[in-house]
Amino acid sequence: MRTAATPIISLVAEHGAAIVGHILFTPVTLADSSQLLMGLAPVAVTHALQNQGAGAALISAGLEQCRRAGVVAVFVLGHAEYYPRFGFVPSVLHGISCEYAVPPENFMCLALSANLIVPDHACVRYHTEFARI
Ligand SMILES: CC(C)(COP(=O)(O)OP(=O)(O)OC[C@H]1O[C@@H](n2cnc3c(N)ncnc32)[C@H](O)[C@@H]1OP(=O)(O)O)[C@@H](O)C(=O)NCCC(=O)NCCS
Repeated sequence: MRTAATPIISLVAEHGAAIVGHILFTPVTLADSSQLLMGLAPVAVTHALQNQGAGAALISAGLEQCRRAGVVAVFVLGHAEYYPRFGFVPSVLHGISCEYAVPPENFMCLALSANLIVPDHACVRYHTEFARI
């Protein structure tokens, strides 16, 4: 993924000398739109250090880097109770679906700019490398 997708945002969380968390953003597409859109996946924190804020720090820092890079919106497929605290809402509220058959509440979107253009029948597609996982 790191070599095939461009651009990417990849951050780690450190605890002492150890890497204890990671987050990756890769480009996603919405029909033939040329907007810069990113998918947040994966994010993980080592089990023993969960619930201490590392996940939130990774997500907040990653979203800030997305803003600085001019990303128009970020999509995530994940826990419906977790991501809304960062501003994510179900993508279906923007009229956007996911290429994967997932419950609508789990596919979420955070618009980072007022310039998000949603084409008709908008469906988000992840980088082709995801199909190999
Ligand atoms: C999801 C994950 C990255 C969060 O990282 P973290 O460092 O534990 O999270 P934080 O400490 O920043 O936040 C903790 C809060 O998140 C909530 N939370 C964690 N996992 C959750 C989940 N699966 N569903 C709902 N809420 C969750 C906790 O209940 C806690 O809530 P509180 O603040 O109200 O007490 C981490 O739990 C993880 O690595 N999980 C396994 C991998 C995974 O599921 N990745 C996400 C795929 S979408």
